[in-house]
Amino acid sequence: MKKPFELHADYQPESFEFNKAGKKQVEKLVALYPKGKQQSAVMPLLDLAQRQVAEEGAKASPPYGGWIPRAAMDHIAEILDMPEIKVYEVASFYSMYNMAPVGKYLVQLCTTTPCWLCGSDDIVKACTDHLGIGMNETTKDGLFTLMEVECLGACVNAPMVQINDDYYEDLTADSMKELLDVLAEGLKPKIGSQKGRKSSMAITGPTSLEKEAKKAGVV
Ligand code: FES
Repeated sequence: MKKPFELHADYQPESFEFNKAGKKQVEKLVALYPKGKQQSAVMPLLDLAQRQVAEEGAKASPPYGGWIPRAAMDHIAEILDMPEIKVYEVASFYSMYNMAPVGKYLVQLCTTTPCWLCGSDDIVKACTDHLGIGMNETTKDGLFTLMEVECLGACVNAPMVQINDDYYEDLTADSMKELLDVLAEGLKPKIGSQKGRKSSMAITGPTSLEKEAKKAGVV
């Protein structure tokens, strides 16, 4: 569950502007839609704003992750000539948009049935114990925020978490803690299965379509 949108919170900056690269990207994105339908660009523009904030946050001390300030939504409403409330509606509906500050690494923990059956309770406990925070909280060093989410579509490699743009699958409490330590050191952990499976293939290799798997270079 993402944090609620607080219009007048202290952390809301007074203004927002896209940077030089962002402005170019805005032009390109808006031009993708037919004349008069530019409002359809609202979702990619929200994503662009969130990524710009993340870029700035990665250089800040303490660091922070991508989120969308109210000023950014108002700016997007102005660019797309649409009511501000319509932009707030879109951003607050989808879980991929963060409406409040988050840590540099947003750890989204899937606890839906397949992940739960495969041990997501252990993964949640590993994160809360290791980081000393609860759901929707951020570590004091600004590095990690924990968030519980619904199915992320990787049930076949459950239990799993999404951290920023990447999926980490086939987790155990130990591999989860290791993952957090690697990120805390500023390194990039291996994405995907933490047990070494390729995609969702059995750990022993393909059990069907073996020739095709060889041809595709996955084994
Ligand atoms: S239930 Fe966790 S990815 Fe689907």
